[in-house]
Order: sequence, then C-alpha cells, then structure tokens
Amino acid sequence: MKKGGNKSKKNIVLFGFMGTGKTSVGRILAGKLGLRFIDMDVVIEERQKKSISSIFAEEGEQAFRKMERDLVRELAGGSGMVIATGGGVVLNRVNVDDFARTGLAVCLRATPEDILDRLKEDTTRPLLAEGDKMQKVAALLEKRRPFYESVPVQVDTSGLTVEQVADRILSIYRESA
Ligand code: S3P
Repeated sequence: MKKGGNKSKKNIVLFGFMGTGKTSVGRILAGKLGLRFIDMDVVIEERQKKSISSIFAEEGEQAFRKMERDLVRELAGGSGMVIATGGGVVLNRVNVDDFARTGLAVCLRATPEDILDRLKEDTTRPLLAEGDKMQKVAALLEKRRPFYESVPVQVDTSGLTVEQVADRILSIYRESA
C-alpha cells in the first residue's frame, strides 16, 4: 500500500438524480476499494438532527442547499472516500468543480421509467411528495439535464445491476489512478 494508506486515494463522488443508485453503488465501491462511504444526506440529517423532509419543511430548500454547499467544501478537501451526493448537489456548479478537482466525479444516469420504478413507494423525497410522481420526475430530470451532463464522467445504468455499475466505475477509477 502506498504511503498514507487509503487516505492518499482520491475520492470517488457519485452524482445523479434521486433513485439512480448512488447510495447502493457507493457502498459497493467503498467495500471493494476499502474506502470510507459517505452519504451526504445522512451526514446532514445527523448534524441537523432531523430528516431531509423536516429540513425542507421547516427551513426551506435554500437553507438545505447551503448545508450541502458547506459539506461539499469540507469533503472535497479530503481523500479516501466514496461520496454519494444528494440529487440536487449538482445544481451548484461550484460543487461539481470542487469535487472534480480532488476526485473522480461520476454521474449515474437512468431513464424516468427506471427512476419512477425505484421511487414509487418512497415518501422521503420532499421534491416528489406532491402531485403526479411520473410528471414530477420527468419535468425535474429535463430541467436538470444540463447540470447532470456537466459532470465529467457519465455512466448509463440502464439494464445494469448495481454490482455492474460499481464494476464499471471501478475500472474507470483504476485507469484514472
Ligand atoms: C434531492 C435529492 C435527495 C435529497 C433531497 C433533495 C434533489 O437526495 O438530497 O431530497 O434535489 O434531487 P437523493 O438523490 O439521495 O435522493
């Protein structure tokens, strides 16, 4: 192992819409590489001592985006981590730039149908809580398309298992090391 152990390994940062598999893929990758797994939503919930839905309801989306921004700054300065971002972290381009400077920034892509399939029973995403979920997913995906496209590495998850997605990212990571 190189001097500094896993701390010297660059981060892998997973971007992508809600339900594209960032958390599941991130855990697998972290396990395979012996890196620490960080889920940004979970860190924010633990620090704020409330759920993402409560943060949105009580403090508003802007306040949540600021919490995300602060956490990006903190995490982008570190190494040896696989980081699953929240689906909206990509909306602030500085977040993508910060993570891309110090790690491998990957965006997981999926069709609206696949996303809906994964999120149909979900009640934890405030942005999809009201109205027709399919319409919401399709509209938000379309609106955010340029932001997701701005992430340096794109991985299409269609027809792949989370293991296969992780393996694909693993080879890109190894090639880029
Ligand atoms: C959001 C995605 C969620 C969470 C919050 C807002 C978004 O994260 O951060 O509900 O704006 O797309 P996941 O992508 O992990 O669901």
